[in-house]
Amino acid sequence: MFYVLLILAIFEQRFNITYMPKILIIGAGGQIGSELTFKLKDIHGSENVVATDINFNNLDIVNSGLFEIVDAEDYNSIRTCVEKHDVDTIYLMAAMLSATGEKYPMKAWDLNMNSLFHVLNLAKEGFIKHIFWPSSIAVFGPSTPTVGTPQHTTMEPTTVYGITKQVGERWCEYYHKKYGVDVRSLRYPGIISWKTMPGGGTTDYAVEIYHKAILEEHYTCFLSENTELPMMFMEDAIHATVNLMQASSEDIKIRSSYNLAAISFTPKEISEAIKTHIPNFKITYQPDFRQDIADSWPKSIDDSSARTDWNWNHEFNLEKMTAEMITQLRHKYLDSQINS
Ligand code: SER
Repeated sequence: MFYVLLILAIFEQRFNITYMPKILIIGAGGQIGSELTFKLKDIHGSENVVATDINFNNLDIVNSGLFEIVDAEDYNSIRTCVEKHDVDTIYLMAAMLSATGEKYPMKAWDLNMNSLFHVLNLAKEGFIKHIFWPSSIAVFGPSTPTVGTPQHTTMEPTTVYGITKQVGERWCEYYHKKYGVDVRSLRYPGIISWKTMPGGGTTDYAVEIYHKAILEEHYTCFLSENTELPMMFMEDAIHATVNLMQASSEDIKIRSSYNLAAISFTPKEISEAIKTHIPNFKITYQPDFRQDIADSWPKSIDDSSARTDWNWNHEFNLEKMTAEMITQLRHKYLDSQINS
C-alpha cells in the first residue's frame, strides 16, 4: 500500500495531474460530520467521499452516496473500509463531547483516544496520507487566560473531553514530527447550525435556543446569563476545515491544533439578538452541571496564527448568524408542518 501511494505521488508530480483525494469521514452522521460530508462531496465529487458512521441514524447521509458502517474504535473496521475504497484522507469526526463525557468518563476516553490512534497508525503504516482531527476550546482550563486566549498558553483542562483533546493534540504533533504524518487540526469553538443538532456538549444551548424561540418563544438556559463562550456559525467552521486541508504543507506551522475563533457572546446577548426578530421571546436561567464546564473555558480566543498561516477569516457575526438561523428554522418548521 505504501509503495502504491508513493508511485501515485511521483506520477502526479511528474505529469502534473490534479490531485483528487479519496476521502473517508468517520462520524459522518454527527453535527459537523454531516455538513462536512456534503461540502466535501460538492468539492471533490460524490464518488470520492465515503461517509461512515456506527449506525444508520442519519438517513440523509446514508442515502447521499457511498456509505459504510464503521466503528471508530475498531482498527480493522476502519482499515477494511480504507482498503476497499482506496482512501488516502480521513476526517475523524466521531467523538464524545464535554457534557456526555462527564457522565461516561471511560467511554469518552476510549472513543476519543482509540479512534485517534487507529487513524494516526493507519497513516504511519502508509495506508493513508492525510488526516483531519478536530480539537476544541475544551483543551483550555481554569488556569488559562480567559480573554483573547493565546495559541500557546497554560492548558490544564478539567473535563474528560478536554483531557482527551489535549492529549490528542500532543500525539498529533508527535506523529507529525516522528513519522511525518500529515495531520491537521482546529480547536473548534461551539458550532451553531440550523441543519443539524449538536449532541452532548456545553455549547449546545446556543443551538437549542433558536429552536425554542421559534417553537415556544421561551427558553430555559442551562448556563447563567453572563457566561461568555467562543462560538461559530457552521458555514464558517466548514470553510475553516476545508481551507486548512487545502493549504500547502509548508503553511501549516502548527501540528498540534490551531486556535479558531469567530464570535463570543453570553446567553443574555444571544437572547437580545433573537428578540430583534421575535420580540416576545423570553429567556430564563437554570444553570446545571454544565455551568462548571463553561466557567473553566475561555471567553474569547486569539486565532491570529490561523489567520496569518493559511488566511483564515470568518464571515458570520452574531447578528448575521441570528438572522440566518431564524429565517432557515422558520422555513424548516413550516415545511415540516405542511408535509405532516
Ligand atoms: N462544543 C463542544 C462542547 O460543548 C466544545 O468543543 O463540548
